[in-house]
Amino acid sequence: MRVRSTRYLFATAAVGALLTVSACGGGKSTSTGNGSAANQLEVFSWWTSGSEDAALKQLIAGFKTGNPGVKVVNGAVAGGGGGNAQAILQTRLQGNNPPDTWQTHPGKAIGQYIDSGILADLSSVYEKDGLSKVVPAELVESVSKNGKVYGASTGAHRGNVLWFNKKLLAKAEVQLSASTTPEQFVQALGELESKGITPLCLGAKDAFATAELFENTLLGEIGVDGWNDLVAGKTSWTSPEVTQAASLFSKMLPYADPDASALSWDQATKRLAAGECAVMSMGDWAYGELVKDGAKDGTDFGYVPEPGTGGSFVLVVDTFVVAENAKHRDLGLKWASAISSKDVQLAFSKEKGSTPVRTDVPTDSLPAYQQEAAASFRGDQLVQSIVHGEAMSPQFQQSFYDAVTQFVQSKDTGSFVQALASAASS
Ligand code: GAL
Repeated sequence: MRVRSTRYLFATAAVGALLTVSACGGGKSTSTGNGSAANQLEVFSWWTSGSEDAALKQLIAGFKTGNPGVKVVNGAVAGGGGGNAQAILQTRLQGNNPPDTWQTHPGKAIGQYIDSGILADLSSVYEKDGLSKVVPAELVESVSKNGKVYGASTGAHRGNVLWFNKKLLAKAEVQLSASTTPEQFVQALGELESKGITPLCLGAKDAFATAELFENTLLGEIGVDGWNDLVAGKTSWTSPEVTQAASLFSKMLPYADPDASALSWDQATKRLAAGECAVMSMGDWAYGELVKDGAKDGTDFGYVPEPGTGGSFVLVVDTFVVAENAKHRDLGLKWASAISSKDVQLAFSKEKGSTPVRTDVPTDSLPAYQQEAAASFRGDQLVQSIVHGEAMSPQFQQSFYDAVTQFVQSKDTGSFVQALASAASS
């Protein structure tokens, strides 16, 4: 299997000098509004798969309800996990041409923009809409600095889920449960292969997908406390636990779909539903995609927490920011308000597979999987993702992707953990 790295994250802080905005970027209009340049909003994201696009359209519809004359320009750039979008965004920020609003994640991901001074303060939106009372304090904190809030979050995805094709597992007489250990999972992959089944679905054309398999394997091996120590720099990346996780990861890779490098995450998801491969480690945007494709929970597919990660919820929280010097800053603030409303959060999550971040959104109209995920989000230990830029710096995130890409080729555990250790100390 060959894996291409398509992610080019920016590591410079040279985005702070946005004094003028020359033009809005291209994109497809999803509106029949009057379209005057003064009355339009560009929304930048990487949501182009079937379920992502449908969920984005719910945000746009929610915004347009309160802002009927405004034209919304959908500037989505294809590429799961945002690899391509991040590269384009970086170029635009450096060229003083920010989208009005763009997708990011809490923690270090949003922190890079906050520190560059390019984001509009959304505190007035939080105050007007009473958001601080209904969004978990920890989450508000992770999109804030010095008492000012800079991000409006829509839904929380659970990153550590293992999806499987029910018929293939039954055929191979393989069982996965919440108590399956990482070692037993590797054995299960072997049993699937021995029955002539492609064991591991992988959309490695999107670099994040392979990195996510490692992230989930690592958490399964080191646990939440180990994870927190690692990202805080209290444990070394060359520790025996990380090395053991790398070794397990190397045992999983040979079981990947031989076509993985040509597949995006959503194509790999379709293959799981179609019975062309058996299991996939992926955040629960895969749930939205499976359902969008007509697959039935309980009949066609099932899920368990990634082996070893039960009781934890890897946070991947979709969050929008507004450029301080956006051409349509005021509309950007209205966008932040609209996507934070109860109804829009629920409509969005129904398409996306996520959990509304507002704790006052009733979840009883959501399908069983999402109710379970919502209970996990509200009750389990929350873990910030490295792959989606929350736990560690964008520079480390990029090194993590690069190290995984190298490792897929070399399977050299020692060099892999060493590369991660060097990245963490630089
Ligand atoms: C994540 C994002 C999710 C989903 C995924 C795949 O970064 O938070 O909403 O879109 O990428 O593209």
